[in-house]
Amino acid sequence: MYDDEDPRCVIVSEVMTPEKSNFAGNVHGGHILQMCDRAAYACAARYSNRYVVTLSVDHVLFKQPIHVGELVSFYASINHVGRTSMEVGIKVVAENLLTQEKRHTNSCFFTMVAVDEHLHPTPVEPLELRNETEKRRFEEAILRKEMNLSFTQEHERRKEELRSRFKPKR
Ligand SMILES: CC(C)(COP(=O)(O)OP(=O)(O)OC[C@H]1O[C@@H](n2cnc3c(N)ncnc32)[C@H](O)[C@@H]1OP(=O)(O)O)[C@@H](O)C(=O)NCCC(=O)NCCS
Repeated sequence: MYDDEDPRCVIVSEVMTPEKSNFAGNVHGGHILQMCDRAAYACAARYSNRYVVTLSVDHVLFKQPIHVGELVSFYASINHVGRTSMEVGIKVVAENLLTQEKRHTNSCFFTMVAVDEHLHPTPVEPLELRNETEKRRFEEAILRKEMNLSFTQEHERRKEELRSRFKPKR
């Protein structure tokens, strides 16, 4: 499903060494996010042939801990392309190298924007949808965009309501 020769996919792998651990002895969530960001950067830059910046990160959920000594792979692929933005889906898989048991520990979605030499957004090639999986991922990305927009609008509306209810007394 993920083909590292495909210009819209990138796989980044790293063995988790002890300095990446937190107080509980598992890998820091921050390190996993940093690796996801690198994979998203490589994937979007390779697809667009441009420098890209991270606009947003969605749906980050650490479902299972990742252990020191595991090989962690970040499978990144372009799900959706707008005019200048790209949604990159990342699937994180941790492998116990002694047993080869693999666990899908989390998935998340990065929105990256292609920028020119002045760091202004610049257009990218539209995404050609080659099979049913790519069409599904494209439509799911549109769904996430719409849901994020309605969440943001509703959040702002309710925040305003709460601000007018709980005005600080002077
Ligand atoms: C990313 C950045 C260049 C976009 O600049 P901008 O002035 O918002 O540019 P535009 O309005 O032209 O939007 C560019 C794209 O981002 C999308 N976008 C911008 N704000 C958005 C938001 N709040 N939600 C969803 N999409 C958004 C636009 O829809 C557009 O996508 P499209 O061209 O595919 O339709 C700018 O926000 C930036 O430099 N951010 C900091 C990036 C950075 O430093 N990241 C590292 C982490 S700190």
